[in-house]
Amino acid sequence: MKPINHKVDKKKWSDFIGTDISLMKENDLFRSLRKVHGSQSPIMKFNGKEIIMMSSNNYLGLADHPEVIRSAILASKKFGNSSVASPLLSGFMQIHESLCKLISSWKEKDQTILFGSGFLANIGIISSLMGKGDVVFSDELNHASIIEGCRLSAAKVKIFPHNNLSILSKYLKETSRKSKRLIVVDGVFSMDGDLAPLDEIVDLAQKFNALLVVDEAHATGVLGKKGRGAASLFKVEEEVDISMGTLGKSLASYGAFVSSKSDVIQYLTNKAKSFIYSTSLPPSAVGSALKSIRLVQGNEGERRRKKLSDLSHYLSDGLTKIGIPVSEKKCKEIPIFPLVIGDTLKTLRLSDFLMKAGIFSLAIRPPTVREGTSRIRISLMATHKKEHIDNLLNALEIGAKKLNISSCKN
Ligand SMILES: Cc1ncc(COP(=O)(O)O)c(C=O)c1O
Repeated sequence: MKPINHKVDKKKWSDFIGTDISLMKENDLFRSLRKVHGSQSPIMKFNGKEIIMMSSNNYLGLADHPEVIRSAILASKKFGNSSVASPLLSGFMQIHESLCKLISSWKEKDQTILFGSGFLANIGIISSLMGKGDVVFSDELNHASIIEGCRLSAAKVKIFPHNNLSILSKYLKETSRKSKRLIVVDGVFSMDGDLAPLDEIVDLAQKFNALLVVDEAHATGVLGKKGRGAASLFKVEEEVDISMGTLGKSLASYGAFVSSKSDVIQYLTNKAKSFIYSTSLPPSAVGSALKSIRLVQGNEGERRRKKLSDLSHYLSDGLTKIGIPVSEKKCKEIPIFPLVIGDTLKTLRLSDFLMKAGIFSLAIRPPTVREGTSRIRISLMATHKKEHIDNLLNALEIGAKKLNISSCKN
């Protein structure tokens, strides 16, 4: 075998990386980490200055809830700092079982399995259930983890235009009934803040005998009865075969869950590699999720959802008043507001302007969103105050004028 010439190879690597980085910078697509100070809450510090945080998924404001923090500490004290093993080895502990049982009863599903993250859950579900010769039907705006899960599965992937059910139906008709078919959608689309029409999707799944997977990452805690998610809002929980949700958004912890019929969960336990070959969630994350879910199910959850919904309505009205009308179709309970500007540089400039005005609301650019749809994504927390929203609206109005941004669709 020819010896490797490390000098030449390293040069090639640095050329490749350097060129790619320059390209990203030239196209305003280079990203870097921004360090924020303080616990995740409406007021944080950035670059030594107080800012109003409007880019967090802490929708219910539970990340700094004293009882949630206490529950994490108690779990660490009782069960140790880490589970130090994958779940099928020795990492599945009493506290993991308690969380699985709580989620199953909350979601009214037979059984639940925990994953290290939502990303791991989605790639695990799709790649273990689907394979060569099978067909996955995926909305074009589904989360990156779903897209990667589809790729890993080696199944044929039919991507249908966003929420376009006539095309989904056409695609379903075109595929053979002999192949395994799976439809996967986000319940709430993370970058657009709109809903998948689950009532109609359920009908299609049943008509064409396709398995239906709903990613409830952004709906969990926020929508439906007791915060059970988008399927609950549409009253189709029973018809959704697999319900996935994350612990790292409204539930202010880390990790993810998948709830379904017992046979599906047993199958994932045996086949999902991102579950089998990955360390089980640390007790602190499980402990805080347990507390958050109990809060979400009870009066505190109800109160916070009401507050979040009031704030979302307030922001909707405010945006309309400053000439950024919110789509009639938008579900007002969803605390995600995409201000689609289109041009990436203009979006970055508006985000910088807002930052100077004390509002932390980042620009979302390709590849996270489609080319030509760069946007500012505003997300609210139940712990925001109306004056925070007033500040945002004032800054937005001035910023858009100053930067000559005439169209800012929602
Ligand atoms: C719709 C959706 N699914 C899955 C995930 C991944 O979840 P996690 O952050 O727990 O990996 C996200 C995260 O942003 C998401 O928005």
